[in-house]
Amino acid sequence: MKLLVATTNPGKLREIAGILEGLPVELVSLDALPPIDEPEETGATFAENARLKALYYHRATRLPSIADDSGLAIEALGGAPGVHSARWEGTDYAVKFRKIYELLDAKGARGSPARFVCHVALADEDRIVFEAEGVIEGRIADEPRGDKGFGYDPIFYYPPLGRTTAELERDVKATVSHRGKAFGKLREYLKRQLAG
Ligand code: IMP
Repeated sequence: MKLLVATTNPGKLREIAGILEGLPVELVSLDALPPIDEPEETGATFAENARLKALYYHRATRLPSIADDSGLAIEALGGAPGVHSARWEGTDYAVKFRKIYELLDAKGARGSPARFVCHVALADEDRIVFEAEGVIEGRIADEPRGDKGFGYDPIFYYPPLGRTTAELERDVKATVSHRGKAFGKLREYLKRQLAG
């Protein structure tokens, strides 16, 4: 069974492939297909964006399509960057981190509680057939640390392991992360479907 993973983000793709490893499915990434225009992510929530992307790519390719929408919500910033994580203050993470620390320092809240959220949706037969959400709770690190992972990982400190998520090996991150939890539920769903 072919399954389209509707992302071009290599960091996300590596993590997703790791979590779904061992299932009798062939993962196809967007990079392996002729270019498809990206849909506008107009949803106000991670769930709406995940559903919209999964349906869009399913309709464009006719393949069962998985899409996720994820991001970092920082409590002291009212949940920002939230659904705008990818493009908030540009795409250079050094610049994004500086802006976050500047905004947090102005509020005296450098170590603000924060969470990563991931919503995953699977579209097939012209509808959403499965969806799930995962969350990891932590706080903003005193300074960026680590070079693994991607995106905001260097500034996301996870207290139970005493590290930022950029200091965790991929398989360790997958056991605790928002994406690991959401895709773990998808993995169980696919296993049941493929068995029955
Ligand atoms: P999406 O591709 O629209 O889901 O945007 C997700 C964005 O949220 C990414 O580009 C990152 O900026 C951020 N993000 C989501 N998950 C993670 C993660 O596991 N680590 C670091 N940043 C993440």
